[in-house]
Amino acid sequence: MILVTGGAGYIGSHTIKALLGRGYEVVALDNLSTGHREFVLCDEFVEVDLLDYPALKKAFSRYPIRSVIHFAARTAVGESVENPRIYYENNVVGGLNLLRAMFEHGVTEFIFSSSAAVYGDPESLPIPEEHPKRPKSPYGRTKQIFEEILSDYARAYGLRYVALRYFNAAGSDPEGTIGEWHDPEPHLIPIVLEAALGLRDHVEIFGTDYDTPDGTCIRDFIHVADLAEAHVLALERLREGRASSIYNLGTGVGHSVREVIETCKRVTGREIPVVEGPRRPGDPPALVADPTRARQELDWKPRFTSLEEIIATAWEWMLRRHGRG
Ligand code: UFG
Repeated sequence: MILVTGGAGYIGSHTIKALLGRGYEVVALDNLSTGHREFVLCDEFVEVDLLDYPALKKAFSRYPIRSVIHFAARTAVGESVENPRIYYENNVVGGLNLLRAMFEHGVTEFIFSSSAAVYGDPESLPIPEEHPKRPKSPYGRTKQIFEEILSDYARAYGLRYVALRYFNAAGSDPEGTIGEWHDPEPHLIPIVLEAALGLRDHVEIFGTDYDTPDGTCIRDFIHVADLAEAHVLALERLREGRASSIYNLGTGVGHSVREVIETCKRVTGREIPVVEGPRRPGDPPALVADPTRARQELDWKPRFTSLEEIIATAWEWMLRRHGRG
């Protein structure tokens, strides 16, 4: 059985869907602080906070867990600057509790949700895995620290792991069952689509004076179903006995904030009022993955290669979620 922590969250719930599609048995764990219980598509669910070690141990005693896919974490960059304590506690201490419970139960297969936030401002594009790590926020630092912990634990205790560094997760389940739902919503595509739906007056562009072709930031948007697929492939490789590794997950193609807004206008066929504002502190000008290693070693190839397709799935979900579909 596979334990998926953060199984009620955005990427966790999509990964559970992918695992179930391949016939895996799954138990989801989530404290429901930001997740949605109705997104958990497997039958087995435990409402547990990783900081509650006795409850965590009980979950390991109750289910025959062989592998762990670990998503449960705080994920808002801005919040991590204002309140780093909850980031270090949840993302580092919570993760350490999880590893401890795993070892007590003889579980050594681990997939970790890491982030492009470990890189900080890139020296060059696209970004390979060996790029220097200079995270700009406590959030990014928790991901970097946890990657180091995994490497030390692998050497000392026989942990076998894959860390997956996501670029910008986007889109929703193409079948429309689950999707992106953060409250408050910090991410560009859902914000633009909320404006298209009339739920916001406008979209503010955070910075139009970057050293990029149209002056706005560039990001590598990767569909959440493709991310989910990468977790399944990573787990299969670990189970085949491959060595621990770290992979970038992105398409390798960047799109600017203005391009995203224009594409959302085309997909939705609606007007989207735009306001140009100042830069958001901490935003790197451009983040684009070099995904070669994941392609070669995981045999991973994103299915959603156009921004338009990615946004179309997000729009379908948004219409459905707001009862307009
Ligand atoms: N943006 C706007 N207006 C908005 C929202 C976002 O212009 O209303 C811009 C941002 O400034 C940024 C881009 O759109 O340039 C993307 O912003 P998101 O908040 O959607 O995503 P980020 O690139 O900031 O964050 C993502 C992940 C984080 C991860 C980070 C790495 O969501 O988990 O990449 O830097 F840490």
